[in-house]
Amino acid sequence: MLLEVRDLRVEFVTRDGVVRAVNGVDYAVDAGETLAVLGESGSGKSVTAQAVMGILDSPPGRIAGGRILFQGRDLLTLGREERRRVRGERMAMIFQDALSSLNPVLTVGFQLGEMFRVHRGASRAEARARAVGLMERVGIPAARERVNDYPHQFSGGMRQRIMIAMALALEPALIIADEPTTALDVTVQAQVMDLLAELRREYDMGLILITHDLGVVADVADRIAVMYAGRIVENAPVKELYARPAHPYTRGLLDSIPRLDSKGKELRAIRGLPPNLLRIPPGCPFHPRCPQVREVCREDPRPPLYEVGEGRSSACHFWKETVGE
Ligand SMILES: Nc1ncnc2c1ncn2[C@@H]1O[C@H](COP(=O)(O)OP(=O)(O)OP(=O)(O)O)[C@@H](O)[C@H]1O
Ligand code: SF4
Ligand SMILES: [Mg+2]
Repeated sequence: MLLEVRDLRVEFVTRDGVVRAVNGVDYAVDAGETLAVLGESGSGKSVTAQAVMGILDSPPGRIAGGRILFQGRDLLTLGREERRRVRGERMAMIFQDALSSLNPVLTVGFQLGEMFRVHRGASRAEARARAVGLMERVGIPAARERVNDYPHQFSGGMRQRIMIAMALALEPALIIADEPTTALDVTVQAQVMDLLAELRREYDMGLILITHDLGVVADVADRIAVMYAGRIVENAPVKELYARPAHPYTRGLLDSIPRLDSKGKELRAIRGLPPNLLRIPPGCPFHPRCPQVREVCREDPRPPLYEVGEGRSSACHFWKETVGE
């Protein structure tokens, strides 16, 4: 396994108390595999990714427990320098907002080329040639002419391609893309997703795609891990998760996607709001919103991640009923 996150816990110490943003996350991604991490705003998707990348805002954030095994080593036990090297060379992250991640006063060719100069000792001419090659690979038209342009001279979709090129430059083993297409319009979203999926195959990388939009990742992900209140509540291959969700929260998310065949029918959104992470409810954290709630759901202990099939798990006591078995 390329990356295995085990029982990861992250908290933020704030004036109001301890915000338990990540409460025992388990997920794994293999080389050549795409894992989509799905959940509502505030469910801990980004904080988990920041912990994996080693870029957690700390303080106020701190890792309160767990393990992050990457290529067989626990990243949480590495020294600062070694951790920085792993992050620079073997993992890369793509953010939603390319404009604020790129330097506005440097040309994209310079920024891409710098990766090769700093990390690979390339000459200026070599670095420039590699930059053009990467721009071509990610589908930027007239790359040779555009290599001296500045980030603001590109469209949002093209800028996101440049971000992907930056992430790809050192051929990392793992890329984490945090809502990489949220700022783009729908057609461009699909193109960028397709590009990521294609590159993942070509480079045999692990890819983690963070999203709150199930529709966007359905075609490109192998597996989906659904997060709720800082925990994975369901983990399954995409097709099975769609066909037979094993957690009421996943079912709620599926029911709230607009479908072509449901024109005129009302979309059912999940009632209520995600919990305040300063005071996560006892028992199943989803119980105040769950249409299938029973008395036992309100009591500790929290439901564990039950094995519900080959490579499938659900954190619902009543997963059998949910999945329809
Ligand atoms: N620097 C911080 N200080 C305090 N709390 C934080 C900080 N960063 C994140 N949190 C808390 O951690 C929780 C999880 O945040 P996270 O950014 O991981 O959510 P997310 O699932 O990525 O949501 P979104 O879809 O909005 O990006 C949030 O509810 C937030 O309150
Ligand atoms: S454990 Fe109970 S409250 Fe939680 S998801 Fe399952 S049925 Fe709903
Ligand atoms: Mg986020």
